[in-house]
Amino acid sequence: MTTNYMGKATSRVDGRAKVTGAAKYAAEYNVPNLAYGYIVTSAIARGRITKIDASEALAVEGVLQVFTHENRHKIAEDDQSYEDEAASPGSPFRPLYDNQIKFSGQPVALVVAEEFEIARYAASLVHIEYKVESHETDLSKVRANGYEPKIKRMEGFEPVKPRGNAEKAFQRAVHQHDAEYDLPIEHHNPMELFASTAVWEGNGKITIYDKNQGAQNCQRYIANIFGFPMDDVRVISPFVGGAFGSGLRPQYQIFLAALAARELKCSVRVSLTRQQMFGLGYRPNTLQRVAIGAAKDGALEAFMHDALANTSRYEDYQEMVVNWAGSLYQCDNMKFSYNIAQLDLCTPMDMRAPGGAPGMYAIECAMDELAYKVGCDPLELRLKNYSEKDQNEGKPFSSKELRACYRQAAEKFGWANRKPQPGSMRDGSELIGWGMATGIWEAMQQPASARAVLTSDGKLEVSSATADIGTGTYTIMTQIAAETLGLPLQDVTFKLGDSTLPQSPIEGGSWTAATNGSAVKKVCDAVGAKLFAMAQKMEASPFANLKFEDVAFSEGQMRLKNDSDRGVAIGEIMRHGGATTLAEEATSSPDEAKQEPYARYTHSAIFVEVKVDEELRTIRVTRIVIAVAGGRILNPKTARSQVLGAAVGAIGMALEEESVVDQNLGRIMTHNLADYHVPVNADVYDIDVIFVEEHDTIVNPLGVKGLGEIGIVGTAAAIANAVFHATGKRVRDMPITVDKLF
Ligand code: MOS
Repeated sequence: MTTNYMGKATSRVDGRAKVTGAAKYAAEYNVPNLAYGYIVTSAIARGRITKIDASEALAVEGVLQVFTHENRHKIAEDDQSYEDEAASPGSPFRPLYDNQIKFSGQPVALVVAEEFEIARYAASLVHIEYKVESHETDLSKVRANGYEPKIKRMEGFEPVKPRGNAEKAFQRAVHQHDAEYDLPIEHHNPMELFASTAVWEGNGKITIYDKNQGAQNCQRYIANIFGFPMDDVRVISPFVGGAFGSGLRPQYQIFLAALAARELKCSVRVSLTRQQMFGLGYRPNTLQRVAIGAAKDGALEAFMHDALANTSRYEDYQEMVVNWAGSLYQCDNMKFSYNIAQLDLCTPMDMRAPGGAPGMYAIECAMDELAYKVGCDPLELRLKNYSEKDQNEGKPFSSKELRACYRQAAEKFGWANRKPQPGSMRDGSELIGWGMATGIWEAMQQPASARAVLTSDGKLEVSSATADIGTGTYTIMTQIAAETLGLPLQDVTFKLGDSTLPQSPIEGGSWTAATNGSAVKKVCDAVGAKLFAMAQKMEASPFANLKFEDVAFSEGQMRLKNDSDRGVAIGEIMRHGGATTLAEEATSSPDEAKQEPYARYTHSAIFVEVKVDEELRTIRVTRIVIAVAGGRILNPKTARSQVLGAAVGAIGMALEEESVVDQNLGRIMTHNLADYHVPVNADVYDIDVIFVEEHDTIVNPLGVKGLGEIGIVGTAAAIANAVFHATGKRVRDMPITVDKLF
């Protein structure tokens, strides 16, 4: 038996519960006398409601209430109460607040009935009249309205200051590439629909089973809006059926479920339909200009990246689209801009590497185009412009094994056998294309707390209020705790997804392994230190004259590091100390003094093969080899799954996903999984993931960098570049559908 789990491929500790159906999701909690809500959404994109007639709906037997803006509920009047951890500057959307329509699909009424079917039927009887105002939902029509957001959403989201003279250097450059790249709106489309089961506890308290990426974020939101004392609101979300960023903000169904439960003094469930899921945030439409000037040999002399993305009329949604090239490539003349323009749509929402995935798509396609102009291999171009420090911040990297990523992935892929000429490789009736790209994502850490309770029977329970959206959080936290205290994995339980647990930020930004992992490590060390103090007091203690640093825990024992045969069982130590339970709570915060002098990023190199039918122009992504330098890998199995999943997301981004707006109606038309295409099993062939481990003592105590998002960054570009290599046709507006290849 070994209790060294970190770095070992470990199956999901929650896997059995998930595949057997024991894991319950937000809409699956049944309580007595549960009422059901059905949401009515606006049919227009902009204007106001002039009349809302719910009398017919209210007359249906079994209908309990119809909530609209006319019901004058007691709710917060200020924007701050509606703010959440992932909000953007502005005036957050307030459901059922007034008669104003800000986007098509906006919730305008909630019908609550004894049965779901009754609520759904009655919802069809709510008659609404509108005063329609003209709307604009087309970003390309409002380019001139773009503005630099005045209030920043997050530190570092603004474009970095220009360096050198990019315009002049571009004009002088031997090779010039200047083009625009267009990404459409995309929706997250997790399998699980947003749902809340709000349980009215009878004593003024409310418990809400909810789908989200941050239980405490939702708890604060509900408490603030409805005026509950914080402790009277509990939000529980132990399992989340995918989210991709859509659960970072509380969605409107939790507001509606809480409102109805409080008003009716009964438990209420509200879940969205798949169509209604398209009335939530999305990856914004992003138009990007990339202009690169290079010397004869391909050395970068000028780099300009300008992005324009859409936001709503009420919030300045922002993400970091344009700074990446400045951290990734060596170039002394760089200039970036990032503007947003308002449309009559709901506010965009972080989705699958927000900013990075769109930005690196444009950057890495542009670099590929430059490689053809220079006449050099695309990989060589990257190596020629490899940056040993982050020029944006003027700092060295805490670690950067990108060179090894390029080398190992290229070798595994067989890149050396590539024929440079587009259309020159084929397999029967299919054209073969080989393309590559680079990926980069921030290695972040946030403050978080964790609790650990060890009992003398050797069972350990650790907890923190984070989420596991399918990423493997349960598993890696269990591994960290088990190894730190030397306990068998099956004796360790990790709890998350409950607002009553120790403080945690939302689960996002690929920061959870570093953030909550560091807290788990710290609290288990604290329990270990307590055990050590107890062990020192034992009669003839082998630890009497030692320090805590001299011992380690393994196989249920506290042992001398330099003489592992000498050890005492943890249970025995606790018995001697007269303790049945040891409980600790700890908070871990980023060590800014240590981190600040370094730029901290995850990197990747992606190599892709596509096969394009010569006549039908159908595209198959037959091979992806992706090498990731993401610090220490805690669990190669769940780590690989994260990168696989993200790479599949990149296939969607490059070839399939697009939320088509009917500009006349101002409405998303592809609002179902038949019309909104995502990759399915038949679209996915070989994906090979390589981890180039980094020993990074700067990023956080665990040396992990997080892997949730890196797999999609740059990968869509590698696919697009492969399509060009196969066909000689450069498609700059995603997704690359068959029609665009004719
Ligand atoms: Mo991620 S888009 O931060 O859930």
